[in-house]
Amino acid sequence: MDELLDRVADATPEVTATTTNDGAELQGSSFDYLTRPGTDLAAKAQAFHAWAQTRVTHGVFPYAKRLGGRPGATAELTMLDGQRHAGLNFSSQEYLSLARHPAVCAAAQAAMERYGVHSAGSTALAGNVEETTALEAELGELLRMPEVLLFPTGWAAGFGAIKGLVRETDHVIIDQLAHNCLHEGARAATPNVHLHRHLDADHVERLLKRVRQRDPRNGILVVTEGCFSMDADSPDIARLQALAREHGALLMVDVAHDLGSLGAGGGGQLELQGQLGQVDLVMGSFSKTFASNGGFVASHDPAIKEYLRFYAAPNTFSNALSPVQVAIIRACVAIVRSAEGAARRGRLMQAILALRGALTEQGITVLGHPSPIVPVMLGHDALARVASREMGQAGLLANLVEYPAVSLNSARLRMQVMADHTPALCQTAARIVADALQRARVLTGEVH
Ligand SMILES: Cc1ncc(COP(=O)(O)O)c(C=O)c1O
Repeated sequence: MDELLDRVADATPEVTATTTNDGAELQGSSFDYLTRPGTDLAAKAQAFHAWAQTRVTHGVFPYAKRLGGRPGATAELTMLDGQRHAGLNFSSQEYLSLARHPAVCAAAQAAMERYGVHSAGSTALAGNVEETTALEAELGELLRMPEVLLFPTGWAAGFGAIKGLVRETDHVIIDQLAHNCLHEGARAATPNVHLHRHLDADHVERLLKRVRQRDPRNGILVVTEGCFSMDADSPDIARLQALAREHGALLMVDVAHDLGSLGAGGGGQLELQGQLGQVDLVMGSFSKTFASNGGFVASHDPAIKEYLRFYAAPNTFSNALSPVQVAIIRACVAIVRSAEGAARRGRLMQAILALRGALTEQGITVLGHPSPIVPVMLGHDALARVASREMGQAGLLANLVEYPAVSLNSARLRMQVMADHTPALCQTAARIVADALQRARVLTGEVH
């Protein structure tokens, strides 16, 4: 890793005429291809593909990359055009660096020996194994919520919880920046979706009052996240829960990014805000800190758990988490709850603070609060596409987020930090970001 660090630190690509862009690859967005009229469905896909290919040809389509090994602090990614970028890896979401932990790998192997790799069915039929119940109980202890239902992915858990609980006549009040799975679930469940301004509890209160006044007969679900995945900020969870209770609504919090990675005991924002076990519904994903696919919905009510098992379609009609995934997640939950987990969170937080500090020193805007997600403001979408390419070539692997995932021309780099990132590595990464941004400004004509 030291050798790679040295190589990366020395690599500053030349600014050459061939890297100058002012063409179609820097214009438009994927949103343009969502809203096209026309009878020919394939033609709509082809129009998007042609635009994406133009971007691939110019090296400014940093999506659908392939990882060459484990998602460590350093890694190698192959781009869609076949170029390989090796360097400092801030593009994985392996927050506690558990993907190659001996206890986690041993648990996966033991499960495979005992159960095979599986195809046993949904949790509503016979897809669960003995360890599934143990995992539900252990996760329940971490969350202080006894009723936990597992889902094949976090996306399925978010979508399934809302679609499973909310009927057409009910209402969803949801943060405008909540994750896609939550918005999709809300839209699929009811036409009565009320967006509230990001983190704005006063706005939630006004909406709750208005909905209750106009419709005293139907249910309301308020939906938010513990740590927002594009902005690294958090709502006042206690206030939202109190407002929900006052107006006869339920609150659901998505803790995909913070559970296990934040809080002294790994309880995430719920723990940091003294709200562990205090919220109606919590959902999350194992695809970040827990080194696996999978998701869950937790509550205090056994009826909600069983209702969702049969009415949340992604649970009822999709295969259960495999025994290997269950074993991996159990091993990760055990580490999260142990002294080792606390030490890993300590290293993770040191790296987060080092990265945020080094970026700020370089004059770069970093959004939100310290969390494993460090959103780095790049600005104009065209500038961001070029900057992202320059970073990759200079040995920094991090995901670009652009419109429509965030608002127009507020593109950002979503750097995801892990326990194995050292402060020195974070400082090198910040320097690469600053250099790449500067080169991109020259290349796009923003600075001459
Ligand atoms: C806030 C949030 N919720 C849910 C999900 C979905 O999780 P999964 O990757 O397990 O499907 C994600 C992952 O992107 C997320 O960021």
